[in-house]
Amino acid sequence: MLGVMKNALPFWPARKALKAHFPALRLTGPRVILRPPLPGDFADWVDLRERSRDHLTPFEPAWHPKSLTAEYFAHRIGIQSRDWERGLSCSFLLFRAPDNALIGGVNLNNICRGSAQFASLGYWLGEEHQGQGYMHEALRLVMTYAFTAQKLHRLNAASLPHNGRSIKLLRHLGFEEEGFAKAYLEINGEWQDHVLFGLNEETFKRQGPIIA
Ligand SMILES: CC(C)(COP(=O)(O)OP(=O)(O)OC[C@H]1O[C@@H](n2cnc3c(N)ncnc32)[C@H](O)[C@@H]1OP(=O)(O)O)[C@@H](O)C(=O)NCCC(=O)NCCS
Repeated sequence: MLGVMKNALPFWPARKALKAHFPALRLTGPRVILRPPLPGDFADWVDLRERSRDHLTPFEPAWHPKSLTAEYFAHRIGIQSRDWERGLSCSFLLFRAPDNALIGGVNLNNICRGSAQFASLGYWLGEEHQGQGYMHEALRLVMTYAFTAQKLHRLNAASLPHNGRSIKLLRHLGFEEEGFAKAYLEINGEWQDHVLFGLNEETFKRQGPIIA
């Protein structure tokens, strides 16, 4: 239980709700759309996350017992909006282009400026939306946004050693394996080893337009 509480959103339960004010931004590809979350996304978000609980929980920080409540979602997007405004992170929800169905999420976390200019990439898909190339396209869009609009120079990503899908995706996107960190992140209530990947702007630009 302690692990669960430690990994909960900062300042939860909220004393005062933060209002979400994101930039009016949409990243659009042939088959997917990314945009910051809105309060009205709650029903689709909770439905997708609940249906994918067993698929997602082994790869994420432990879910708070109230993580699928409207109150928690409102607080979560309030924090994400505040962090976007402060230049600390960019949070996107991911939609399938033809029908606007919510299928997952992508985050640029831990944005570090100064001589670093890097961020950590986080991503998830609802279980039934895997295996169709949606995340590959979504990450190419977010990577382009990171290296152009956000003017970052490097993206980092970390994967559990047994997360084959994630590792395959990162390699396919041009990320290179750069190291191994013991007890790197607290995932599903336990400090777990991770394989570290990185990609810099120069390598990304050499790749050219979206590749499948
Ligand atoms: C990691 C995760 C996002 C990867 O999802 P994914 O479906 O494998 O990735 P994509 O959406 O890019 O799909 C790639 C697959 O679609 C296939 N595909 C089908 N049509 C495609 C198309 N038009 N373009 C590209 N790929 C296509 C690819 O061949 C590939 O399948 P394969 O792995 O069986 O060869 C997903 O497994 C997930 O959400 N896992 C749980 C959360 C998680 O691990 N997050 C990351 C923590 S580090």
